[in-house]
Formats: sequence, C-alpha cells, structure tokens
Amino acid sequence: MKTDSFVRKTTEFSRQLPVGIAKKLVVFHEIGSTNSTAKELAFAGAEEGTVVIAQTQHQGRGRFDRHWESPEGGVYLSLILRPKVQAVNTSLLPLLTALAVSRTIATYDLHPIIKWPNDMLVNRKKIAGILLESEVEGSKVLFVVVGIGVNLNINLDDLSQEIRAYSTSLKNETGVSVDYLEFLNRFFLQFHHYYQLFLDGQYNDIIREWKQHSDTLGKTVEIKASGTMLRGTAFDIDQFGFLLVKTTDGSIKKITSGDCIYLNQL
Ligand code: BTN
Repeated sequence: MKTDSFVRKTTEFSRQLPVGIAKKLVVFHEIGSTNSTAKELAFAGAEEGTVVIAQTQHQGRGRFDRHWESPEGGVYLSLILRPKVQAVNTSLLPLLTALAVSRTIATYDLHPIIKWPNDMLVNRKKIAGILLESEVEGSKVLFVVVGIGVNLNINLDDLSQEIRAYSTSLKNETGVSVDYLEFLNRFFLQFHHYYQLFLDGQYNDIIREWKQHSDTLGKTVEIKASGTMLRGTAFDIDQFGFLLVKTTDGSIKKITSGDCIYLNQL
C-alpha cells in the first residue's frame, strides 16, 4: 500500500470495526515503536482496545531489547489491554497472543508452529514476533501493551542479511500478497476469542490449545536468560505458561522467560 493510502484506508477501516477487542486504531505512516507510543497513550488513560498501528517503525523493539526490523509490508501494531485480573495471571497473555497470531496465519493455509514462549515459525523460519509490556501496581494490572510484528508482505531482501536466513513472510510462503486489512480483521477476531477465554478464567483451554500448536514440548532445549544458560528436555508448561525443563542432572527447572534454542534438531 502507498503511504497516503495506508493511513487513509487503515483509518477508514478503523471507523468500521466490528464489535470486538479493537475499539480504536491510531494510525501512523512511520513511528519509532508502536509499543512505546501505546505505552504513552496507556499512561495518559487510553481505554482498552486502543490499537497503535504503523506502516513502518524505525525503532521497533523485540524481546530482550533487540531491534525489530520493520520495513514496509509488515504488520506492526500494539493493543492496549486493561484486564481486571491479578497480575500473576497475566503470564498467560503472551501464550494466548501467540495462539491468536498462529490461528490467523493458519487461515492462509500455512502451518505455523509456536516456539516457547511466543516465537512464530513457518517452515522453521520466523514469521511473527510478540512483545508484551505490562504496568502493574502491587497485584493490580494497570495495563498491558500487546505488540505484534508480522512479516506479512515483506520482501525478504528488505531485511538485513543477518536475519534474512531465518526469517520468512506470508507473501514468501504463499507466493501472493496478502490483503493487509483482511489480515487485521482476522487477527482481531482471533484475539477477541482467546481474550474472552482468558477473562472467563478458561486458562486450561488456552494451555491445552497452546500445547497443540507448539512443538517445544519433548525437545532438548537450551535456554538463555539473564546471563544464565540451562540445558535439558522441555516436558511441559505449568498453569502460568512457564516452561518446565528436566535438566541433565535430573532436576526440574521452571523457566519464566528466556531464549529457547532447540538442540539436536535434524
Ligand atoms: C520478538 O522479539 O520476537 C518480538 C518482536 C515484536 C515486534 C513488535 S512490532 C510492533 C510492536 N512494536 C514494537 O516496537 N515491537 C512490537
């Protein structure tokens, strides 16, 4: 989409949003990071369902403060949530977001796999990433910003050589351009569904479905987190979505966050 038509068409689309999770879209051609702007809006009182969306980002942020390359053709959005749940329960939000993205991508006849906690892979290459940022006060959740980046119609040549080898896009996998606004529609529908399950306390359903869509369990993994490294077999996730790993010395570790690498992958 051309720049002016991106802003115009996405803003028009925003006026006709069906009843669901997305209430209002704040549209930019270019932005630093949709997550950063969404956080500013959330601090200023923006309501649940406000979505910051941009055609490109020049300071897109990934997990662990990595840069998220954001050329034109990708989806870059951040959704503000204000769930009335205990802060401890928000650890399931990354998993349900991954499910929503995964189910959306699957509607294009692709077979996405979730790598714990929320990396989205198609044919073992990254197609989407998720970055959640929460603001809590004691056990109270003030807001959560759900940031998603999807390699929708990205030409892989527009990515740096460093990440090109392990990235893919919907366009690259399907061989055709995907309608941007239709993708948003499908994603918001899926997210609404899983978020309702979450608000209804149907945590087991979310975990069960996540397990069906993930290939992490049963794998020998290496987890890197805050300067530490651990190896073992990922054998389950608990009710909070934390990964349970049996290490080589037989002990069981609960992993709350980290980078997960599969070892011995053929
Ligand atoms: C990852 O490291 O896999 C997460 C990447 C998340 C990128 C998205 S793009 C939209 C939103 N705004 C950001 O700055 N980051 C997230």
